Formats: sequence, structure tokens, C-alpha cells
Amino acid sequence: MSDVVTTITSSANPDVAAAAAQFLSQVVIDSQALVINGKQAHWHVRGANFIAVHELFDEIVERAEDYADTAAERVVALGLPLDARIGAVAANTTLPELPAGFQPAEVMIGSLVNQIDALLVGVNKAIKELGAIDAASQDVAIQIARSLEKDRWFLFAHISAV
Ligand SMILES: [Fe+2]
Repeated sequence: MSDVVTTITSSANPDVAAAAAQFLSQVVIDSQALVINGKQAHWHVRGANFIAVHELFDEIVERAEDYADTAAERVVALGLPLDARIGAVAANTTLPELPAGFQPAEVMIGSLVNQIDALLVGVNKAIKELGAIDAASQDVAIQIARSLEKDRWFLFAHISAV
């Protein structure tokens, strides 16, 4: 057995890691909040289009899980931890409260659009701020933005007058 000791450290520049953590942590927290609120909406939506809306909400939840996972793993890959425990998510999310109990589809859809818009604020901030610092972290945010905007369209098309 070799007696050579190799110290393995993160290859990331500390400034890059700190910036990624600063801007992607909010994305993780708000994506996790969308997972929770999306499930609540999935269970409590009612109306004539129930099955379609119920299933769409579940697909949005699955994608939100991916956003959180991708953003969190970018931060951790750069060597920094983040706090996405339930208390931290509840305390720090920027998502508005979802109405309680059973709700008509228009109400739940409108509320989920508002949730996505709140999440997009942090995602767009990450895109703007990370561009000059770390293209790979910015790319994570860009992918999330593209998918969220598609989900927003899927939702909005249900309640748009035209
Ligand atoms: Fe379900």
C-alpha cells in the first residue's frame, strides 16, 4: 500500500462557487416550494376538466423536482452546501400562498401561474447575474427558465379568453 497521501479538493474557483450558491439556492428553494404547492393543487383542483388539469399539475411537479435537483447539484458540484430543509424552504420561499382546500380549476391554474412567475424572478436573476461569472451555472438557470415558461403557457392556455 502506498504511503502517498493525496488531498482531493474541489476544482472550482471559490468565487464561482459562491456566486452559483448565491443565485441558484433561491431557485432550489422556490422549486421545492412549487413541488409542495403543485401537489396540493393536484389533490384539490375540481371542475369539468379535472383529469386533464390534475395530470398537468403532476407533470409540473415532476419538472419542478428536476429544477431543484439540477440547480442543487450544480451548487454541490462546485463544493458548497445549501439549506433546502423544510424549515428553510418555508422561511425563504418567494412563492405566494396557494388557496386552501378544494378550488375550481380556474383558481388553481391562476394560482400556479403566480407560483411560476415568482419562481421565474429568481431564475431570471440567476441568468442575468451568472452570465459574466459562470456559463455552466447560467445554463442551468436558462434550461429551467425555458421549461417554466412552457409550463406557464400550458397553464395559461386553460384560462385565457382567446
Ligand atoms: Fe397523484
